Amino acid sequence: MCSPEHFAVEYAINPWMDVTAPVDAELAVKQWDRLRETLLGLGHEVHLLTPERGLPDMVFAANGAFVVDGTVYGAQFKHEQRAAEAAAHRAFYEEHGWRFIAPSETNEGEGDFAYLPDAHGGLILAGHGFRTELAGHAEAQEALSRPVVSLRLVDPRFYHLDVALASIDDENIVYYPGAFSAASQKVLAQLFPDAVLADDEDALAFGLNLVSDGLNVVLNSEATRLAGKLKAAGYTPVPVELAELKKGGGSVKCCIAELRH
Ligand code: ARG
Repeated sequence: MCSPEHFAVEYAINPWMDVTAPVDAELAVKQWDRLRETLLGLGHEVHLLTPERGLPDMVFAANGAFVVDGTVYGAQFKHEQRAAEAAAHRAFYEEHGWRFIAPSETNEGEGDFAYLPDAHGGLILAGHGFRTELAGHAEAQEALSRPVVSLRLVDPRFYHLDVALASIDDENIVYYPGAFSAASQKVLAQLFPDAVLADDEDALAFGLNLVSDGLNVVLNSEATRLAGKLKAAGYTPVPVELAELKKGGGSVKCCIAELRH
């Protein structure tokens, strides 16, 4: 995770960002800190990246890389405003002894990649259409030796996979079908017949931008119906308020890069 100390909306690279709307970085830090404490309270270990002035989106740590079984596939951001973030993530992984594979294709890390270790023997789901390029999906498959299923995102409000779909345990997902092309919706229905489906209101409240440890699902507090559905499916929803970061176009999952040993 990376503190939103320097969080701001200075440019607009997704439909949620409005450069004229005021942003309270102090409040963002408070809310982000609650998220960090929530993860610690659930028994998880949290490493921190040092936020850098001039990189206002650095709080969205999920975009910096994608890690599967100890191998890190680095990010290459689509927009130049975020390009320098990739080096900070790379330095973290190299300092901590992870096997790092540098990308040569545009991809925004966990923003557009999800991993299901027990689905079909280990499956990567990947989004394209707005940020990550299809060539990045192929590159991820070669880097990580896992099959990659490409899914096409069609609604600019769901510009990353992780605002439209999330893994809720090692083999199942929750998603909002309307974010995907008709063909990709069929692919998801075929691969995940037992998936939990979110409605448009919960999806637009960033409810799908969640992290789950397989038992506890940490999600945006506004997505109340989705929390109910997850509870009915046997998970424990853990709501967190992250309203300030919504102004950058992100929520819970965007703030967290998962380290999969
Ligand atoms: N403002 C950031 C961008 O548009 C938000 C990134 C959100 N992160 C995510 N994993 N969806 O790139």
